[in-house]
Amino acid sequence: MKHLISPLDLSVSELKEILDLAGDIILDPGKYANVCHGKKLATLFYEPSTRTRLSFEAAMLNLGGSVLGFSSADSSSAAKGESVADTIRVISSYADICAMRHPKEGAPLVASTYSSIPVINAGDGGHNHPTQTLTDLLTIQILKGRLDNLTVGFCGDLKFGRTVHSLINALVRYENINFVLISPDELKIPTYLREEVLDANHVSYKEVKVLEEVMPQLDLLYMTRVQKERFFNEEDYIRLKDSFILDTKKMEYAKKDMLVLHPLPRVNEIATEVDKDPRAVYFKQAEFGVYVRMALIMKLLEDESC
Ligand code: CP
Repeated sequence: MKHLISPLDLSVSELKEILDLAGDIILDPGKYANVCHGKKLATLFYEPSTRTRLSFEAAMLNLGGSVLGFSSADSSSAAKGESVADTIRVISSYADICAMRHPKEGAPLVASTYSSIPVINAGDGGHNHPTQTLTDLLTIQILKGRLDNLTVGFCGDLKFGRTVHSLINALVRYENINFVLISPDELKIPTYLREEVLDANHVSYKEVKVLEEVMPQLDLLYMTRVQKERFFNEEDYIRLKDSFILDTKKMEYAKKDMLVLHPLPRVNEIATEVDKDPRAVYFKQAEFGVYVRMALIMKLLEDESC
């Protein structure tokens, strides 16, 4: 059985298959309207979510399947002390596939070892968010036309931002990718990512503190929210939360075809005035999340002819 726990669980050719399938779904969604008839997706969300949970649910409904689940730990028996292992054993008999978000890093991996249905990591702590990565790759592939030969700026909370960690892991497998990592010292990427992913793969990258200085070099700017929920004290969060605010003035430094991505939710890091700029594609990116999750569900249920 195949699970999706880390972005590296999918080979580059499997990624291509999913992105191509998502592209075909966009062109002809009606063709896929009943392919998961009779199948059930469980969404087990121990942490808040708008896009990931609802786009998973929309994806399964678009495929003709059904959905069940919970949207907070408090409304599940986790509040009574039930383990992830016991929960997934039970859910395995209620659904055909599940998407799990959990504040603890590694919880979906633990679940996958006890599960008899495919488990999709829908975000585990500050670690990984592989289906956001699929969403990001589809956005880049469609709107930029390529996944190689790119200079990608990541800006904001690169320490706790799991979407950043997953996308870096995925992009290093493509040719001629350069990263510009823009953050305050306290929010730099984790050491394991620098040493085991960037250095180990001889990837070109630099770490800077001023966004404007590097804007003209970027093909993509991936803005991120400072992850309040991962901070140990509020003072640090308040000090760092507005480290970077992208506004129309800063956009003047960017290439005419640079794209601004953001996994959302946004707080202050992109001024709403930027939304009107055609290079701001974060709402389109959220829309693409439905199609790529449709493709992923189909792929993971393939063996069961869904
Ligand atoms: N991008 C993302 O994971 O958004 P949600 O937290 O709303 O699911």
